[in-house]
Amino acid sequence: MEIQIAVEFHGQTIPETGTIILLAASKKKWGVSLKKLDKQSGGQIGNAIGVSSFEGDKSDNIEIISPANLTQSRLIVVGLGNEPIEEAREWMKVGGRICGLVKDDPTGVVTVLVEDIGKDFVFTANYIAAIATGFLMKRYDFNLYKTKDKNVDKKGDIKTLAIACRDHRKVARSYQDFDALRAGVFTARDLVNEPGNILGPVEFALRARELEKLGVDVTILDETEMAAKGMSALLAVGQGSERESRLAIMRWNGADNSKNKPLAIVGKGVTFDSGGISIKPSAGMEDMKGDMGGAACVTGLLKTLALRKAKANVIGVIGLTENMPDGKAQRPGDVVTSMSGQTIEVINTDAEGRLVLADALTYTINTYKPRLVIDLATLTGAILVALGKEYAGLFSNNDQLAKRLLKAGEKSGEKLWRMPLGKPYDKLIDSRIADMKNTGGRLAGSTTAAQFLQRYVGETPWAHLDIAGTAMGSPKTELSSGWGSGFGVQLLNEFIAQNYE
Ligand code: BES
Ligand code: MN
Ligand code: ZN
Repeated sequence: MEIQIAVEFHGQTIPETGTIILLAASKKKWGVSLKKLDKQSGGQIGNAIGVSSFEGDKSDNIEIISPANLTQSRLIVVGLGNEPIEEAREWMKVGGRICGLVKDDPTGVVTVLVEDIGKDFVFTANYIAAIATGFLMKRYDFNLYKTKDKNVDKKGDIKTLAIACRDHRKVARSYQDFDALRAGVFTARDLVNEPGNILGPVEFALRARELEKLGVDVTILDETEMAAKGMSALLAVGQGSERESRLAIMRWNGADNSKNKPLAIVGKGVTFDSGGISIKPSAGMEDMKGDMGGAACVTGLLKTLALRKAKANVIGVIGLTENMPDGKAQRPGDVVTSMSGQTIEVINTDAEGRLVLADALTYTINTYKPRLVIDLATLTGAILVALGKEYAGLFSNNDQLAKRLLKAGEKSGEKLWRMPLGKPYDKLIDSRIADMKNTGGRLAGSTTAAQFLQRYVGETPWAHLDIAGTAMGSPKTELSSGWGSGFGVQLLNEFIAQNYE
């Protein structure tokens, strides 16, 4: 949801009212403005720091309410630690920490004063823009269905985040790209957080359609069009739902040469996964509204790329469907023919994501001949068993692509861990009566799912990201209030900016 906080950048003057955030590297390492304020207050800040346990560490902060001789309502000194911080991502986390420290202010304005501290902390425009972005990322709150608090101005709500800094015009320019990223992440989070009754495949496709306003070409295939193209694997998943399936294609042509082969990003968009006839146990089933985290990421990413006018050609394809068990639902044991012509024996209707992706991948590769394809999917519970919520699983048939993704993961903080693929695993999905079956047994569940997908990509450089542990049910972090994390948007934005623009 769009956040109701205005962000402003101005020069390094200290406003006379509101909450002021100041940065310190240790008990004594301060910038000049902090020193000046301390002097004005008759040394109150220094005294407060002196008697407290504030050491300037990354976890330290000290709050002085109504400081002596000063007109501001409150000063908060935030520790930066003694090590220089040289990643925009880390500055975003500082912004997120600051957000956690200010709930309200009588003026509704919080000002972060950013000034160099000795040689250790020299602020580039990017770092400063990252602080503002981190603040907003952490403030995100999915409160659409809270009827009590919503739209009621609570006393002291923060309305403006002001950044007082050097070169503020340059910072404001740099902030545009960061804000494009933030907006894409929010879109992805919104989509994941929406309940299944509100956001079905048709409604999701309409959300994708909204990107047209930003210059993205959007095409939506309905069930008749999909059937005509032979997408029986995807359609089989939606067979037991009252709701229709959709395939949405979002195309951003930002490269100087619009004919350059595109990058393709494909997402699993199961708007609710009950398991189908192989129904899931009821405990925790409500979480399966988030089984479209891959599609949410693709949609958010395309929004970011369009907003920042990325110089790359990117196709986003999302397979949208709902997996439900009614009289028309597919049965365990059914055989379906995918768009590629390969047949699949459906052993377990709860292994539906790979059926959706099989046709989405075939369609994407046949239609666009992309230079590479990356799919994202909340595909297996097994990836949670292997990696928990720290890393998403990375599977790839191409070492260079894998390396680039791993690097973007480290840089963006959306980390990946490479998992194995190989012939012996592939054998586990051979079927007695069809070309393959959709489960590979108890062992290596995430890898056998990836092997299944690999049968649909041929020679195209391909990577599969299993984001079941990272996109939904996510913990609170420095930059997120939890559940829908928007995982993948920052990662792939970084990946594209680093390698393809
Ligand atoms: N959407 C689930 C995977 C999932 C599990 C996502 C937990 C998020 C959290 C997927 O469709 C699924 O049900 N996979 C099965 C595959 C099995 C039947 C081979 C699984 O992981 O149990
Ligand atoms: Mn499932
Ligand atoms: Zn699923």
